[in-house]
Amino acid sequence: MKIGIVGGTGREGKGIAVRWARAGHDVVIGSRDGERAAAAAVELSALAGRTVGGASNEDAVRAAEVVLLAVPYTAHGDTLRGLAGALAGKALIDITVPLAPPKVRVVHLPPGRAAALEAQALVGPSVRVTAGLHHVGSSELADPEHAFDSDVLVCGDDADAKAQTIRLIGDLGLRALDAGPLANAVALEALTPVLLHINKTYGAAASGIRVTGLPPG
Ligand SMILES: NC(=O)c1ccc[n+]([C@@H]2O[C@H](COP(=O)([O-])OP(=O)(O)OC[C@H]3O[C@@H](n4cnc5c(N)ncnc54)[C@H](OP(=O)(O)O)[C@@H]3O)[C@@H](O)[C@H]2O)c1
Repeated sequence: MKIGIVGGTGREGKGIAVRWARAGHDVVIGSRDGERAAAAAVELSALAGRTVGGASNEDAVRAAEVVLLAVPYTAHGDTLRGLAGALAGKALIDITVPLAPPKVRVVHLPPGRAAALEAQALVGPSVRVTAGLHHVGSSELADPEHAFDSDVLVCGDDADAKAQTIRLIGDLGLRALDAGPLANAVALEALTPVLLHINKTYGAAASGIRVTGLPPG
């Protein structure tokens, strides 16, 4: 698929870009500064063994069928407002966790209850918003050889877009599960501060979640 990553120069976006490129997708990472993205893309292409493009965030969105949003929550609203026109009619995967530094280990519900719900309201109904990857750390994504034993919970209101996101997360090397409608992003986003608390308490580099009790297959 043609995938654009807004904020693809960051910690989370780079690892995702390399893994998707390795899986055979055409990936363009975006940045506020297209030259910064192009420079980072050269490094990522070498890691992936396949060309990763670099462009402005808007050009990355325009080139894509599916867009992954990977900017900090503080930049979430303004970034989406600026890209709403380019995003029209596309699928958007929002991985944002609305942390409230410095208390990143305490749940913070944003005004719209979840970043993903705020995203849907900002970009309008033509954009099929799904949310996931809130519980996957950037350091493990950035190591292309790291094998995950954790799950990704994916929510969204459009069944086809959610199934597509689940497949794409599978291409990152993670098991993704349907976690219901986009409203459930409130719970998914809120779990990350809990995991950050667990990391600190038990000295874990990056704790994750695994759903048990599923039938085999
Ligand atoms: N890091 C993790 O382990 C992790 C795990 C799960 C979910 N997440 C979520 O993933 C998202 C990205 O996290 P990250 O750690 O990759 O973030 P990051 O590295 O701090 O930032 C990602 C990119 O966002 C852009 N950016 C930064 N400030 C911006 C601003 N004010 N306006 C517009 N763009 C800005 C930057 O790109 P340019 O400067 O090139 O424009 C930056 O490279 C966050 O919403 C986070 O909650 C992160």
